[in-house]
Amino acid sequence: MSALLSATGVSKVYQMGTNSVTALDNVSIEIKEGEFVAIQGTSGSGKSTLLNMLGGLDHPSSGEVFFASKPLGPFTKREMARYRRFSVGMIFQNFNLIPTMSAEENVSLALAFGGLRGQQRRDRTARLLERVGLKDRLSHRPSELSGGEQQRVAIARALANNPKVLLADEPTGNLDSVRAHELLGLLREMVNVDALTILMVTHDHELANSFAHRIVFMKDGKVV
Ligand SMILES: Nc1ncnc2c1ncn2[C@@H]1O[C@H](COP(=O)(O)OP(=O)(O)OP(=O)(O)O)[C@@H](O)[C@H]1O
Ligand SMILES: [Mg+2]
Repeated sequence: MSALLSATGVSKVYQMGTNSVTALDNVSIEIKEGEFVAIQGTSGSGKSTLLNMLGGLDHPSSGEVFFASKPLGPFTKREMARYRRFSVGMIFQNFNLIPTMSAEENVSLALAFGGLRGQQRRDRTARLLERVGLKDRLSHRPSELSGGEQQRVAIARALANNPKVLLADEPTGNLDSVRAHELLGLLREMVNVDALTILMVTHDHELANSFAHRIVFMKDGKVV
């Protein structure tokens, strides 16, 4: 089976005045549909940079990212926006929810960007929040939710428009061990039941071992 998401020879060099920082150095990686892959590596090894390239948040300096065998390089701005909206979802350590909006509104907004309206949008919002175990927290704002609950809202939002892939950057970084296990249990269930594909950065080896199919290690901008 060919890869769903892949990078071939991807490098990223940041120019900082006269200095250049090589965040990614000729990285190649393949993620197959339905795989749960963990990325580990020391701080500064390029994990977030790689996720950002795969998620279409930034462009490689060289090399190419492929989704469903299609290179992202030639995508127009508009195609790239569609890719980020419909093909991949992202979650982060700090949840990144909109603080003034309720759980329901945070998810509904993503659906609105995806073109869903009215009753259909309300129904899908409710279904998504129920799927992550939050049907009793619809009107809570982020500050009125626990860390684990906020990350569940972020998952519902990331999956709102049915992406094939979830990219997760230290999703349990702000959760205690019990909450982290619960959250990864939910993600693993989505892989098993809904055939979601996940690429997750985590510094926690035990979590990576328990929940991922495979672990990729990075060092100094390279996959090792
Ligand atoms: N926008 C940027 N401009 C300049 N340098 C950057 C930028 N983003 C990242 N870097 C540098 O690239 C390298 C890789 O950063 P990255 O954030 O990918 O590391 P990481 O593996 O995610 O680390 P951590 O575990 O601490 O999150 C680091 O040396 C960082 O300083
Ligand atoms: Mg990082």
